[in-house]
Formats: sequence, C-alpha cells, structure tokens
Amino acid sequence: MKSNQLKKKYIEFFKSKKHKEIANFSLIPQNDPTVLFTTAGMHPLVPYLLGETHPAGKKLVNIQRCLRTGDIEEVGDNTHLTFFEMLGNWSLGEYWKKDAIDYSFEFLTSKKWLNFPVEKLGITAFAGDKDSPKDEDSANRWLELGISKKRIVYLNENWWGPAGQTGPCGPCTEMFYWAGDGNAPERFDPTDKFWIEIWNDVFMQYNKDSKGKFSELKQKNVDTGMGTERVMTILEGKKSIYETSIFIPIINKIKDLVGLKKINEVEELSIRKVADHVRAATFLINDGIAPSNVDQGYVLRRLIRSAIRHARILGISKENVCGEISKEIIKIYSKEYSNLKEKKKIIIEEFNKEEIKFEQSLERGLKKFNEMTKNKKLSGKNAFLLFQSFGFPLEMTRELADEHNVKIDILGFDKEMKKHQGLSRTATKGKFGSGLADQSDEVKKLHTATHLLHSALRKILNTDVEQRGSNITAERLRFDFNFDRKMTEEEKKKVEDLMNEWIKKGIKIKKEEMNISKAKKEGAVGLFEYSGDVSVYSIGKVSKEICTGPHVDNTNKLGIFKIKKEQSSSAGVRRIKAILE
Ligand code: SER
Repeated sequence: MKSNQLKKKYIEFFKSKKHKEIANFSLIPQNDPTVLFTTAGMHPLVPYLLGETHPAGKKLVNIQRCLRTGDIEEVGDNTHLTFFEMLGNWSLGEYWKKDAIDYSFEFLTSKKWLNFPVEKLGITAFAGDKDSPKDEDSANRWLELGISKKRIVYLNENWWGPAGQTGPCGPCTEMFYWAGDGNAPERFDPTDKFWIEIWNDVFMQYNKDSKGKFSELKQKNVDTGMGTERVMTILEGKKSIYETSIFIPIINKIKDLVGLKKINEVEELSIRKVADHVRAATFLINDGIAPSNVDQGYVLRRLIRSAIRHARILGISKENVCGEISKEIIKIYSKEYSNLKEKKKIIIEEFNKEEIKFEQSLERGLKKFNEMTKNKKLSGKNAFLLFQSFGFPLEMTRELADEHNVKIDILGFDKEMKKHQGLSRTATKGKFGSGLADQSDEVKKLHTATHLLHSALRKILNTDVEQRGSNITAERLRFDFNFDRKMTEEEKKKVEDLMNEWIKKGIKIKKEEMNISKAKKEGAVGLFEYSGDVSVYSIGKVSKEICTGPHVDNTNKLGIFKIKKEQSSSAGVRRIKAILE
C-alpha cells in the first residue's frame, strides 16, 4: 500500500462512519498568536472544539500537514520528522471514548482496513492526577476488544494539549505497534524503541486558561491523530520512516547528488536530515513563508541552512542544492497539493536566494567560530553573534561545537535571542498571554478589523493584495500581505480613513454556511485550501471571507482604527501592526 492509498482508506473508513472530510489547512495558523505552526489536525478546529458550530457537522475527518520543531534534534533517527502528514478524526460533542476506541481498533485490525495483528498492539492510558481521574473507561474498552492486560500501561504523561498556552485538552490513549523482529514481547513497554507510537485518541473535555486552571468544556470532544509516515513504515515492513516509499525517491535523489557507492552511518544521517529539512522547507515556502531572522521565517532559515551544510558535508557541490532536491518533492506531492506545482518557480528561487546569502557569510563565520573557540568554549553572546552577523542557526553552531569538542552555552544563547526578538517578560505576556482559545471581545473586534483591513488595502494599494499571515492578540492585530514597497504616509492615512468610515457606518456582519464552490463563485476570499462546506463572513459589500470566526456582529463596535507600524516582513511581504482605540 502506498501512502496515498493509506490516506484514501482512512478517509473512506471514517466516511463510512458518517464523518465529513474537511480541508487540509496551511502550516501557518491563522489568527493564532500562541504558536508558529499547525502542529496537529486539531489546530484549525479550536473554535469548534470550544463550541462554535462547524459547517460540515459534528463528525470530521482529514489529512493535515503539520510541522513540529520540538523534534528537530532527533530528525534522522528511525521515527522523527519535522514535517509530517497527520490522519485525524474528530467528534465535536458527538461520540465519546467507546466509539473513538472502537473506530481506531477496527481501522487498525480489520482485514478490510489495515489488518494489523491484535497481538502486535500496545496501549497507554491516562494514569490520573489532581486535575483529572485515571482513565479506566478507555483501558476497559481496550480489554473488551481483546487487548491483553499486560499490553495496557497507565502513564501520567497521557495528556494532550493545549496546543498553545491555553485551550482544549484532555487525557489520551495511545496505540503502539511492535516493529521489532519476531513476536511482540508479552508485556508492553512504551519506552522500548521497537514499540512505535502510531495513533493518539485524545478526549478533550477540558479547557486550560491562562492561569493554568482547567474547566469542563461545553462539549466533550474526541481528537485523534495518526502519523502517516509511521504507519507506512509498518505497512511496508521497514525499520525506519526514511526507508518507506514516501522517502525513497527523495533519498535516492540525494544519493545521486552525493555520487558515492557506499554510504556510511554518519553520511546516512546527513542524507536523512537533508531529506526531512528540504521537504519541510518546501511546504513552508509553499505556504507563503520566506527565510528571515524571526518567527516562522527563522525556522525556515534554520531548516534550509542546516540542509545546505549537511549537503556540503556529504560533498555535494551543486549550486542551489535544496532547490534541486525540492524539485523531486514537488513532483511527489503536486497531485495532492496542487499549488506546489504552480509555485514551483518561486520555491526553487527562494532556496537559491537563501543559499547565496548563506554562502556569502559561511566562510567568514567559520573563521570567526575558530577564533572564538580557541579555549574550547563558546559563550551565549558569541553564539548569538554568529547567528546575527553570520546567519548561523543555533543547531548548526551546536553541531560545529560538537565536531570541535567545544562547550557551548545554550542558555546564554537563548537569553540573547529572547532579547533580540523583543520577548521581554511583558512582551511575552502580550504576545502569548491571550492564547489560542482567546475569544474575548477584544480579539473578536481585531479579527473583524483584520477582514476590513484586507479589503481596505486592496482598495487603496491594489487589488492583488493578499493576506500572507495574521496574528491577533488582545492588544493589537498584525497583518502580513504581499506588496513590494513601503507604504507612503498618504496611503496609510487613506487606509485608516477608509477603515474608520466603514466602522462608523455600522455595517452588520453576516455569517453563512455554504459549499466552497458557491463561496468561491460569490467571490469570497479564501485564505486556505478549503473543501466541502465552509463558513463565510460578509461585512456588507465591503468584505466577504471564508473564515472560522468568531467576529463581532456590527462594525460600530470596533472603535477607532490606527496603524501603529508598517514595515517589511520578508521579501515582497509587508507587515502592518494596528490597534483599535
Ligand atoms: N492532537 C493529538 C496529537 O497531536 C491528536 O491528534 O497527538
């Protein structure tokens, strides 16, 4: 079975259980200040987990592209990736533990579906703590389905979420598969690396607030996620994600570029890192990110530069090496992600530009590194200097330090980085405090203002202006859009005047649910690749956007709109920070 067949089967299975398929969203969360990336399928669903009505109903299924940087150091082992595709199903206040577990069990073990032997499964369940009781219901259901007692382990860490600092969360039960040789040991040990974690069923019944307190949600939700790449490893009987048919063409492409007959273990690790990083970077650029020194752009920069460095260690001297490998990735995924093909040129060029920038400073940076580390130590300040002046991402400096037996002060670096990114304690509070689950009036108002701003920029600057990112806290909105020069004072004033005119008019905000094709026909602006039924928010004739909400009901609630800053965000992208007074 190839990965597209696995994905098809998953969707087909849950459709047969009356789930509706929803879209695969961008890797960049919209209107969510607490996280940089979509790290799980539940991410775009937070408003619905909190109680908003989803246009597609209460039982949902999809495949979601995800990016997790927490595992970046482990990339290249047998199970870790930064970018991956998550298969997920949800119940928004509909079915609960028994059905969720039954569906998981049937999909995994039934002949018609994955046909995994029950004897190779291990299960974890929540052990209980002061906030929530031991999850015996889940464990008992697994027992009833035929999992032996020795294969069920209670753990404290079986708790998932919130994805940001606040939001929906709850206990979870995880499924593991024995990927070692021969029969699975009688007793399940989740710390044994041959037991691979494949699927997580989360029972989201709590909301965590900014004070760290848990309260019961309006509805009990199920949120599950299964890793496509990990399941493929099992289906294809491989020992590593990187040996599956998903990665073979990418790895072969890199090996061709290396040109060696024999590859040793260290080289294999570098090849895997290049494969993972270029794949993740390709999808990030496709979702509108350009390399920079902050936020998502910085992660992208780290991925690309690390890939280039490993490619050079492997002896690949080809120019735009990432671009070359990316071509293969675009080929593999363009059937499922149609815009990859359309953006191919942009993606390849972005890799090229970053490589040129990196190489300009690489040699000088290496020289500086050698000077700084004569005493086999590297201070946080110096590591930061390498980052800021020579564009050395921390991972790279760390790897260099390892190679040269140099001790590096990581905490010191983090401190400098925080200073640089302006994340003082108060700023941190402002930026992260409002939270993913923040549906306060302030956030709603700024969200509605963001829709108006999108329209105002199209009217005043030009009609090609499109949203490239949005980030809202209770204090301000931040809106990124494509435009290739600084706005003039006059243009900013015109945008403010137009916004305030619309606000004063008291225009009603209307929410409708309709099919994506109808929404597009009616000219709604769609920021993601939606499918199926969507919510469309209209503000009179001024704005019509596909969006998850929530919004205020009338523009007259907004107050006075003011632009505080207009600056460059990355090449060809401008950023506006604005407030409502
Ligand atoms: N949100 C859960 C996870 O990421 C289930 O998808 O594991």
